[in-house]
Amino acid sequence: MDFKEELKHYQEIINEELQKYLRTKDCLEGVLNESMEYSLMAGGKRLRPILVLSTYSLFKSDLEKCFPFAVAIEMIHNFSLIHDDLPGIDNDDFRHGKLTNHKKFNEATAILAGDGLLNNAYIVISNDLKQTSNSKDLEKKLQVFNEFTLAVDRMIAGEYVDTEYEGKRITEEDLQYIHENKTGALLKLCVRMGAILGEASDEELKNLTSYAEKIGLAFQIKDDILSEEGDEKVLGKPVGNDKKQEKCTYVSKYGLQESKEILDKITKEAVEDLESFGGKAEFLKGLALYIENRNK
Ligand code: IPE
Ligand code: IPE
Ligand code: MG
Ligand code: MG
Repeated sequence: MDFKEELKHYQEIINEELQKYLRTKDCLEGVLNESMEYSLMAGGKRLRPILVLSTYSLFKSDLEKCFPFAVAIEMIHNFSLIHDDLPGIDNDDFRHGKLTNHKKFNEATAILAGDGLLNNAYIVISNDLKQTSNSKDLEKKLQVFNEFTLAVDRMIAGEYVDTEYEGKRITEEDLQYIHENKTGALLKLCVRMGAILGEASDEELKNLTSYAEKIGLAFQIKDDILSEEGDEKVLGKPVGNDKKQEKCTYVSKYGLQESKEILDKITKEAVEDLESFGGKAEFLKGLALYIENRNK
């Protein structure tokens, strides 16, 4: 399979898995469930669960073992997007080429849909833990669960600092702090979840963590660049809003050209971190390049 086919294959696996967790609309909170589904199934790239599965597959082939964590992280991600778009945070009207959750439904529903996805992620994981009888598996899953909770905490902290810095001058250090937390933490978590569940050695985990930290930062730098010069139709979300809201981004701090140079440098470093895995890591290397070159 070439890279694009493999990416699509993973996306299909994840979409099929997510379908299993959609909830009934035939109840008093039916519209709330509909709004959770609206965002969860709106057409995201599924990069986070793909990182979990593709890292795990460096080591093992029974991908099902990762499914609950892959589903849970996509729920967390969509919770973060719904709240990120709210008037009190980024105040955006479009995502995935559709109205944002609060525009399609209303603010109260969007806040609660985010809360719902956040808690559903934990329901999915706790159900899986409850069904795990093998003590070695359980031990690994508990470690992963602990890292999961801590990464979500970092994402929320990063979002907070991001909003606090709107319209202010920022140091290089604090800008990196925002990016590492609001975006990097979840991406790093995904790679580490796949590696830990796959029983990576300490050395392998170290290299994969370093790769993940780099693609995590690269991902947000590219997001900043796309917010400046992306094609709104392809991107499915507004272009120019970071500037309008005076967000502190790599583009506002370093300009477009230097941001692209930094992005290119850390992408190359991320690929180098995978050298010791040889041909097995072709897909993960491809993902780093995909992050750098994506247009949505
Ligand atoms: C967007 O993430 C939010 C950021 C963390 C920059 P994605 O680009 O991965 O969102 P999807 O693909 O629309 O789900
Ligand atoms: C989003 O960051 C990060 C999280 C949702 C945690 P941005 O606000 O920069 O992302 P977009 O551009 O709205 O997707
Ligand atoms: Mg934001
Ligand atoms: Mg935003």
